[in-house]
Amino acid sequence: MPKEVKSEKKYDLAVIGAGPGGYHAAIRAAQYGAKVALIEKNKLGGTCLNRGCIPTKALLASAHFLERINDAQDFGITIKDYEADFSKVVERKNQIVNELGTGIANLQKAWKNDVYIGHGKILGGNFEEGFDVAIQGEIHDEVIIAKRVIIATGSTPALIPNFNVDHERILTSDDILDPNFKTIPKRLLIIGAGVIGCEFADIFANFGSEVTLLEYLPTPIAAEEPLIIKQLQKKFDSMGVKILTSQNVLSVENLGLSVKVTTCSASVPIDQIKDAEKSVFEADICLISIGRNKVSKNLGLEELGITTRRGAIEVDPSTLETVIHGIYAIGDVNGGIMLAHVASYEGDIAVANALSNLKKFQVKPKRTNYRVIPSTIFTSPNIGSVGLKRKQAKELGIDVLVGQFPYSSLGKAKCMGEEGLLMILADKHTLQIVGASCIGEGASELIAEVTLAMQHGLTIEDITHTVHSHPTLSEMVLETAEAVVGRAIHKKGRPVGPRLKDILIEQVPLRIEEV
Ligand code: FAD
Ligand code: NAI
Repeated sequence: MPKEVKSEKKYDLAVIGAGPGGYHAAIRAAQYGAKVALIEKNKLGGTCLNRGCIPTKALLASAHFLERINDAQDFGITIKDYEADFSKVVERKNQIVNELGTGIANLQKAWKNDVYIGHGKILGGNFEEGFDVAIQGEIHDEVIIAKRVIIATGSTPALIPNFNVDHERILTSDDILDPNFKTIPKRLLIIGAGVIGCEFADIFANFGSEVTLLEYLPTPIAAEEPLIIKQLQKKFDSMGVKILTSQNVLSVENLGLSVKVTTCSASVPIDQIKDAEKSVFEADICLISIGRNKVSKNLGLEELGITTRRGAIEVDPSTLETVIHGIYAIGDVNGGIMLAHVASYEGDIAVANALSNLKKFQVKPKRTNYRVIPSTIFTSPNIGSVGLKRKQAKELGIDVLVGQFPYSSLGKAKCMGEEGLLMILADKHTLQIVGASCIGEGASELIAEVTLAMQHGLTIEDITHTVHSHPTLSEMVLETAEAVVGRAIHKKGRPVGPRLKDILIEQVPLRIEEV
């Protein structure tokens, strides 16, 4: 138990949770000169490094390598006698995770942050005197005092009681990404065709599993543009991945040698379902990927008066401060966008705000702005998006011009044998870019150019005036921006927009200044 004595260990900032929110915040605070305690009950890197972004991307990299080899004939290459060894794929994934984990530990050491391994809990305190934070675990069992606290405790897979997750045949993403999970199921059922469901479908279909996705909504990855969803469905179809939508899952049972999942149509009220209307699916493994729960229990929140809503710690959305002055919550646990880069971004904001009211740091407070947050689904093809979708623009009453450009019309994409499309939305009156969605090879990277443009309030003209190297996929951004105003070179179109004449006439000077 934590000792009830006043600690001699005093910090400017304690960060509870060392995922991409917490470990990033700890380093940022150290860069400002703060004395930092970083508390983690499991492994540095959190979900993202150990059970999320990185291990899935390592598996996807192997899966897509295999896909490439399978397509080698299309490129005039015959490859004989090759096979995938999934246990080696998993070992590679584990090694990547371990190396990056060591990297994070070394960075904390380099910034002289004290890392405590154990469960962190705020015992009490206040803005003036600081907060007592207990660390309880086998390695550390003590209490420290921190002037400010950032909670970054993240999330875990959402579970539904009658889905009977037994971690044997009925699994969560944590189980599949466990370092010892080395099985390719012959038949894989995935409940939830969101981001996790689709990424795992892609991984296992490439390694030969028969994959079926069961989704409650009428469409998978429902937040994306309908055209993009259609393209992913088409690709999954070509791989033999089945997506069954509007499915209400009634039960999931481990039968010993297989798993049985019973569903009915989502449109039928549960109390009116007849047996004949039920569908039964059998598989070797069932993955439950239906969203994530926030980790906000046993942190001392109730005692302090910090409120939660459905598990999410309530914060002022612009400062990320909780109702207790001096305590902040960032990342998945505050119920905002559940992405690693959002957690890190929020770390920057919370650190600036936490240190801004400590005189010795002279740090200016910062406010959040979620207008330009990119996101990616790392299937093959990738899906990348930023800013508004067409439906959202309509709901917000923003008149937009929409430009679309297909990969099939781009030289580089054609050479690479890639298909897909990029769509850019611009305000009709100002030509300012308000959103973009892309599906295709490198979508995750292409969207970065649009993200930078949006972050700086750039217009379609700013992109069309920028020379893009040929032949590259980056020309997708140029052509799509030109398509917004009907001026793409490699696509038929009718010029539209109020300031068209400027687009071709204005030139950015290409003069190199002599020094
Ligand atoms: P977490 O990463 O969850 O870290 C929280 C940490 O706090 C954990 O290490 C936990 O052990 C620790 N902790 C909890 N309670 C305590 C306590 N009381 N004391 C001490 N420590 C505690 N996002 C992307 O942007 N890109 C992706 O490609 C991507 N892929 C994903 C794939 C999967 C399968 C999953 C599950 C998620 C993925 N995500 C991805 C989402 C991303 O992982 C999360 O948004 C991100 O990890 C959230 O960061 P965080 O710091 O808020 O929390
Ligand atoms: P999600 O919210 O993306 O998808 C869950 C899906 O399950 C939804 O389509 C939902 O309609 C469906 N669903 C919910 N209950 C269901 C039920 N009872 N039966 C059938 N379907 C049901 O959540 P997911 O995929 O679990 O991912 C969690 C979070 O992790 C996401 O917010 C995502 O942003 C993040 N993540 C990000 C990745 C990335 O950036 N590439 C990769 C993986 C996860």
